[in-house]
Order: sequence, then structure tokens, then C-alpha cells
Amino acid sequence: MRDFRGKKVLLTGASSGIGAALAREFARRGSDVFLAARNLERLEEVRLDCEKAGVSARSFVVDFASEASINAFADQVLAEGLLFDCIVLNAGISQRALAFDTDFSVDRKIMETNFFGPVLLTKRLEPMLRGERKVNMAVTTSISGLFGFPLRTAYCASKHALFGWFEALEVENQNITMTFLIPGRINTPISKSAVHGDGSSHGTMDAGQANGMDVDKCAKVAYKAIARGRHRKLIGGGELIMVYIRKYLPALFFKIAPRISAT
Ligand SMILES: NC(=O)c1ccc[n+]([C@@H]2O[C@H](COP(=O)([O-])OP(=O)(O)OC[C@H]3O[C@@H](n4cnc5c(N)ncnc54)[C@H](OP(=O)(O)O)[C@@H]3O)[C@@H](O)[C@H]2O)c1
Repeated sequence: MRDFRGKKVLLTGASSGIGAALAREFARRGSDVFLAARNLERLEEVRLDCEKAGVSARSFVVDFASEASINAFADQVLAEGLLFDCIVLNAGISQRALAFDTDFSVDRKIMETNFFGPVLLTKRLEPMLRGERKVNMAVTTSISGLFGFPLRTAYCASKHALFGWFEALEVENQNITMTFLIPGRINTPISKSAVHGDGSSHGTMDAGQANGMDVDKCAKVAYKAIARGRHRKLIGGGELIMVYIRKYLPALFFKIAPRISAT
């Protein structure tokens, strides 16, 4: 198990939910944390919590749907000579709309935020990722990255894509230990910021979300998975059974998946 005490950890999507809880967990265990997201006020709340653990913490306003914003962030990181020991690519938005009701611009927005954003940032951080130096990376995908699920076409696509790109990156770079965090349903506000077909926010805490695993418990499981260098870690409750049904009983999966509540 890698000890991240005194190590530098970058977490995206650290202003809320899983990213915020995982930042607190890294801080509690002695890591210096670098927190990135769009909402500075919420980032600062997490930063102050982390500092209470006696570590150093910094907030960075970054929009992962914007190339310019990612490039500005990467420029600053490289100019300061920061070297992260662990990078957690966790920022993401979800979707609550049928494929044919989703405007193509919304498909692109979800792909930009959930897939191209992490890819661009990773490419820009090449100087600290290439070579002999050992780096842990974690990518928050989803069980929706392992099968199709209603009202989530672009979301599923973005989460499937993460597996492909980052696993190939790992194969190309022996110094990178990759962990795919694969949550099922975790109690975070993600359904509130999920987008409808016209790009507007869903704005509702879905029952499925509210009944999900406690976010601090999720963060503890995620931390251990990263520290142990686990390649894939499913995190959640009974909903995880769908992963096995899709894999081993696909005919059954296609019968029951359309009937599961997607909200
Ligand atoms: N909760 C679940 O049940 C669940 C299940 C499977 C996978 N996941 C995945 O877990 C990750 C974290 O989600 P969560 O559940 O913790 O939801 P959350 O509480 O809504 O957190 C999402 C985080 O992503 C950030 N974010 C969203 N769009 C961004 C953008 N354009 N630029 C920068 N940051 C952005 C948000 O920060 P700002 O709004 O401040 O930018 C926030 O910090 C996501 O990738 C999600 O897909 C969650």
C-alpha cells in the first residue's frame, strides 16, 4: 500500500461529492491537496477542512469543459514546477434525457467535461507523467461505463471512453499506476447538476442518488483502492449486481435494464 503522507495530490471535481470527500480523506492521511473545480466558494470550504488536518491545500478554478481554462491551469502548474504524486480525475456531469431528446451540443458538452477535459489535462501534464517517476492516477468512471443505461447515452459514452483511453495510457507508461474508480450510486448532488436534453439542469435530488452509499464511506474505499494500486474498484451497494448480470447474463440484462428507475 503506497503511503501518500507528505505527497502532492491533485483532485478534480473537488468542490463537491466524491472529490470533496476524497480530498478530505487524503488530507486526513497527511497529503498536500490541490483542489480543482469551477465553484471557488465550495472549493474554499473543502480547502479549509483539509487544512484543519495540518496539511497544505490550494484551490484552483478550472472549467473542464473549456480547453482555454485547462490550458491556463496546466500552464500555472508547470510554471510553478509542481510535481503531483497522485492525480485523481474525478470531475463530471451526468445526464437525465433520452438520446433523441438530447441536443447534440449537450452530447458534446458531456463528452468535453467527462472525457476530453481529463484527456487534455493529462496530455498537458506530460512532463510529470513521462519517465521513471512513479505516479498514481485515478479516474472516476461509473458502472454506466460498463453497460448502457437509460437517460444516460452521452454519460455512458463518456464513461466507457475513459476506460479505453486511460487503460491504453497505462499500458504505454509503466511508471503510471492507474486505478479506475467505478461507483454505482453514491449519495452526492450529482443528479442536481445532471443535464436535460436542452442543457438545463435536472435540479432534483433523485431518490436513487439519495439512497446511495454514504460519500465518506465511498471516499475511504476509493482511497484504499488507489493506495493499493487496484486496477478497478467497484464502489456501491446492491446496484453493483448489474455489472455481473451484464457480463455473465446479458440476455437477462437487456430484459431488466429498461425497467430500472433511472432517476
Ligand atoms: N454519485 C454517483 O452516484 C456517481 C456514480 C458514478 C459515477 N460518479 C462520478 O463521480 C464523479 C464525481 O461526481 P459526484 O457524484 O461527486 O457529483 P458532484 O457532487 O456533482 O461533483 C461533481 C464535481 O465535478 C465538478 N465539475 C462538474 N463539471 C465541471 C466542469 N465543467 N469543470 C470543472 N469541474 C466540474 C463539480 O464542481 P463545480 O460544479 O464546482 O465545477 C463537482 O466538484 C463524476 O465523474 C461522476 O460521474 C458518481
